[in-house]
Amino acid sequence: MPRVVIIGAGPGGLSCAIALKRKYGFDNFTIYERGGEVGGTWRASLFGASSDVSVAFYSLSTDLRDWKGSHGSQKELLDYWVDLAKKYNLYPHILLNHAVKSVEWDTTNNHYHIVAEDASTGKSSSSTAEIVISAIGVLDTPRFARIPGLDTFKGAKFHSARWDSSVELRGKRVGVIGNGSSATQFVPQIAKDPEVRIIQFCRTPSWLLPDNRVQYSQTTRWILRNIPFMMRLYRWILFMRKNFTNYIKSNAPKKYVDKLVPTYPLACKRLVIDTDYLRALHQPNLDINWDGIDRIVEDGILTKKGIEHIPLDVIIFATGYAADFYPLHVRGKTHTIQEYYEQELGQRHTLAQLFPTSELLYDFWFVFRPNTVTGHTSAIFTNEVQRKVSSLEVKLSATDAYNDKIQALLNNSVWAGCISWYRVGGDGKISSLFPGPALRFWLWLRKPDWRHFSGIFKQRLQLLLRVLIFSGLLALGASRMEMFRAIQTKAFPLARSLLESVSKQKSRIIG
Ligand SMILES: Cc1cc2nc3c(=O)[nH]c(=O)nc-3n(C[C@H](O)[C@H](O)[C@H](O)COP(=O)(O)OP(=O)(O)OC[C@H]3O[C@@H](n4cnc5c(N)ncnc54)[C@H](O)[C@@H]3O)c2cc1C
Ligand SMILES: NC(=O)c1ccc[n+]([C@@H]2O[C@H](COP(=O)([O-])OP(=O)(O)OC[C@H]3O[C@@H](n4cnc5c(N)ncnc54)[C@H](OP(=O)(O)O)[C@@H]3O)[C@@H](O)[C@H]2O)c1
Repeated sequence: MPRVVIIGAGPGGLSCAIALKRKYGFDNFTIYERGGEVGGTWRASLFGASSDVSVAFYSLSTDLRDWKGSHGSQKELLDYWVDLAKKYNLYPHILLNHAVKSVEWDTTNNHYHIVAEDASTGKSSSSTAEIVISAIGVLDTPRFARIPGLDTFKGAKFHSARWDSSVELRGKRVGVIGNGSSATQFVPQIAKDPEVRIIQFCRTPSWLLPDNRVQYSQTTRWILRNIPFMMRLYRWILFMRKNFTNYIKSNAPKKYVDKLVPTYPLACKRLVIDTDYLRALHQPNLDINWDGIDRIVEDGILTKKGIEHIPLDVIIFATGYAADFYPLHVRGKTHTIQEYYEQELGQRHTLAQLFPTSELLYDFWFVFRPNTVTGHTSAIFTNEVQRKVSSLEVKLSATDAYNDKIQALLNNSVWAGCISWYRVGGDGKISSLFPGPALRFWLWLRKPDWRHFSGIFKQRLQLLLRVLIFSGLLALGASRMEMFRAIQTKAFPLARSLLESVSKQKSRIIG
């Protein structure tokens, strides 16, 4: 039986492991997780984030839950994934605090060589696997802004994705850099304390949508829990619905309205649910600075407006994630993943999330990687859809054709109209997004086109051989007509008399 290694125990890695166990009864796998617990994003996001997609849809279709409200808090989502890891007995398969450092294909022995480091001892260990599944996430590596003087700042500084709870914010002047989903979610939270003085440095505004999150009433929860298919119906409604409303003008403080209404097309960057942000902007302890950062100095930030000095004690970087490169060293037959991407001018989609093997890698799978993010719907849904595709080898020609097709669609889409983490270097090739809605993603991945996969030929050959052998056996049986007739004359009358007695019994009962 081949051994499978999964890298990452976030929602992607865990749902893969669950599928291996549930669907295929396969359990010869190990999950390497760099952190001390499962849950990925929902373990790491300590700033009180919550899902911006309704949790009824942002959860596995196989494991619906009695959620308290429409959107899951960080704690609820972490609990959900921890519970699933327990339910499917995954912990014995998981090596926590183990970061995979490299994966290399061993051409002599036809398996991968995996090197991991134990965070508690610093020791390296190695293992082998025939199949490797990369589930290391897209929004995992924090990106600090490239601002001159970053290292000169003497106060406390941290990234929103690595929230440092040991830094006391009360009584401090806190600079926040960024205006995306992360900043707009934590700024109102820290602004609740009037003793925290916040200056938010913004460059580009986000499209903010009204918050449609609600806590379910007891009746709604009862209906979703007890009426068959109600939760599934609700998931479908969420899947089909679109809600784009611009309400910034009527809710933002007048002095910011002009700056806060984006000039780029709606949905070019990820839409941001307004979790109390516009209301918080009316507070006296929160100001936005739009002047642009010139550089960071020992005790604050110098803006571009006549080199104005803004003194600060703490800087929080809400400057997003490095989603445009693959951070892990993986060497296949001929290339590393980085070399392949460089050659292709950035990350590119690999059909069925499998690399074109004859050229590069063998049985190296991706969960949630290039061109699979579907704008504003659930990443868990796209994870589940990807798992329905299975194969052995994807052809390079098919990969090229598919990439040409999606890049043509993306280049003419709304996402080509602004700078975002969806693109290489912010303004290059659109390497994260899938070109269309989740419905199209589902339709395209619903059935694999077997002409794209060369390994399928082997499977079909095996099937053909089985059919031939079976037909041969049948022919052999038929040639033994004597035996066949004997069975016919003895077994058939017996079956007929049995049937007759059953139908007599039945007509007696009926009446
Ligand atoms: C704050 C925040 C909120 C979000 N909200 C939503 C939302 O509402 N809806 C939505 O659809 N999406 C949302 N996303 C996107 C989110 O990343 C995905 O929904 C989901 O977490 C992806 O799961 P994943 O397992 O692929 O990646 P992750 O959750 O990022 O998990 C990856 C795991 O791999 C581990 N890992 C990485 N490298 C290594 C290594 N070398 N060795 C071992 N382990 C490694 C990490 O420690 C991590 O645990 C959000 C993202 C963020 C950051
Ligand atoms: N569930 C949730 O509610 C939730 C919460 C957080 C994150 N997320 C997910 O995570 C993704 C990333 O969100 P994010 O907010 O962390 O990152 P982001 O959307 O990439 O936003 C980064 C912000 O930092 C700014 N920035 C970067 N460099 C800067 C510089 N040098 N000077 C000034 N500003 C600078 C950007 O401005 P520019 O636009 O000008 O570059 C942008 O406002 C989201 O799209 C979403 O998918 C979801």
